[in-house]
Amino acid sequence: MKVDTYDSLSGQVALVTGANRGIGEQIARILAEHDATVYAGARDPEDVTADDQRPLRLDVTDDAAMRAAVDRVEREADRLDILVNNAGVRGPTEPLHEAAVEDIDETLAVNLRGAVVLTKYALSLLLERAGGRVVNLSSGLGTLGAGMDGGSPPYRLSKTGLNGLTAYLHGEYAEEGLLANAARPGWVRTELATPGAPRSPAEGADTPAWLARFAPGAPAGRCWRDRTPIGW
Ligand SMILES: NC(=O)c1ccc[n+]([C@@H]2O[C@H](COP(=O)([O-])OP(=O)(O)OC[C@H]3O[C@@H](n4cnc5c(N)ncnc54)[C@H](OP(=O)(O)O)[C@@H]3O)[C@@H](O)[C@H]2O)c1
Repeated sequence: MKVDTYDSLSGQVALVTGANRGIGEQIARILAEHDATVYAGARDPEDVTADDQRPLRLDVTDDAAMRAAVDRVEREADRLDILVNNAGVRGPTEPLHEAAVEDIDETLAVNLRGAVVLTKYALSLLLERAGGRVVNLSSGLGTLGAGMDGGSPPYRLSKTGLNGLTAYLHGEYAEEGLLANAARPGWVRTELATPGAPRSPAEGADTPAWLARFAPGAPAGRCWRDRTPIGW
């Protein structure tokens, strides 16, 4: 699909959660290679090794840390163009009747509540100029049309919820210029998935990083896989 994207993100600012490893590390790398100022969110900032990024202490289950992270971006950079809600955990894989309640709570807190609250805090900066982007890392496991059997209930529901967050943001803020999209990276070799997964983290990062480069007027309110719109 032909879409207007920024070749250079020079002068633009991005915040990526879970940027210390896996797909998030690769999204942050790609955005930095396009000359964005990248705030690399990590629970432990020392885990961020890239020297062209700004490590940012950010646990998405900690409201004060999320507020402080956005405040720091505003204080230092005075703008935010891109928020990538990437941080995630797989959570319990058992069917719902066997899953522990505390594991269900943690999975929803990281994958869904964290993205909702961080986006809430970031919105005023993202809306300061037309074309702010929110990219949510979704999954085929959360796709309502794909069948929901096979365990991992809180993970599935968190990703269905992220799709809902994407549609909500589009409905509420598109007229103010916000571009909110969801990305399904495919099955990727990271700690969250399995060593036998077919895609590298860089391959998994391609579509979310591409969405993060969307220019004003580009499509939004969609879920994408391999740079192609796909069903929720
Ligand atoms: N891998 C796949 O096949 C696949 C498929 C579909 C969707 N996804 C999605 O892609 C995203 C990235 O996953 P990944 O495969 O790259 O997994 P990963 O390698 O396990 O990375 C997960 C990242 O999330 C961070 N994180 C976990 N809990 C956090 C918290 N409370 N606050 C802030 N950061 C936290 C981790 O930080 P720590 O190092 O501190 O734990 C790590 O940086 C996730 O949203 C995942 O659901 C992945």
